[in-house]
Amino acid sequence: MLEILNFSKSYNGHNVLSNFSLELPRKSFTVLVGPSGCGKSTLFDLLMGTVPPDGGRLFLFGEEIPNLRGKAGYMAQKDLLLPWLSLIHNALLPVSVKRKPTSEDFAEAKALFNSLELSGFENHYPRQVSGGMAQRCALARTLFFQAQLALLDEPLSAVDALTRQSLRTTLLLLQSRFDKTILMVTHDVDDAVLLADRILILSRSPMTVTEEFIPGGKKPRNPTNTALLRLKERILLSLQEGR
Ligand SMILES: Nc1ncnc2c1ncn2[C@@H]1O[C@H](COP(=O)(O)OP(=O)(O)OP(=O)(O)O)[C@@H](O)[C@H]1O
Ligand SMILES: [Mg+2]
Repeated sequence: MLEILNFSKSYNGHNVLSNFSLELPRKSFTVLVGPSGCGKSTLFDLLMGTVPPDGGRLFLFGEEIPNLRGKAGYMAQKDLLLPWLSLIHNALLPVSVKRKPTSEDFAEAKALFNSLELSGFENHYPRQVSGGMAQRCALARTLFFQAQLALLDEPLSAVDALTRQSLRTTLLLLQSRFDKTILMVTHDVDDAVLLADRILILSRSPMTVTEEFIPGGKKPRNPTNTALLRLKERILLSLQEGR
């Protein structure tokens, strides 16, 4: 579905990406895991066109495009919500930029808020809610974007362990409901083994895929499954070796 070909980017002579290539099959859930500062968010910046690449090409369904602006939902690692809009209006932003949201849109947003445990906070403003709630609202907004592709940069980082588990379940439900193809960055190995169809381990400078793991098994997966526990160990080892 998406082909990233030879993306390159340097900052002040520092080679963050050099001929980085990646393919995302349709409806796949790809998880990127790598050391802090290796270039994951930079990759998303280039994909979304917020930062110009030094080189590289991008193909969506075989058609070359300059970037994914308007073609993918994107949840950035920071600066998530617009402070002057209530949570529900933040979530409906992808709709409002195109047309006036209808009562059906609001009903759908409320249902999504319910599954993200945000019910009752629809009319709160970002400053009135916790970081985790703001993050869940940003996730709702990303999913509201009517595109098959969603890029998520550490979407579950600001939530407690229990909420994280329920968000993982929600994410899987939403993926199957909306048929999304997802590319997600995480530092959490549990996220990776529970959610991914494919886990890519990344190295620093320039960022390369050092190893690929296919967890297998139907989702939702059992976190105490021995095969998954073994896979977690292998991933942690692979990350350590890359340091
Ligand atoms: N706008 C910028 N100007 C200069 N250097 C930058 C800029 N954005 C990123 N970098 C550098 O590029 C490298 C990769 O940063 P990036 O944010 O992509 O890492 P990351 O893998 O997302 O890290 P983390 O896991 O901590 O979020 C870092 O060395 C960073 O300092
Ligand atoms: Mg980052």
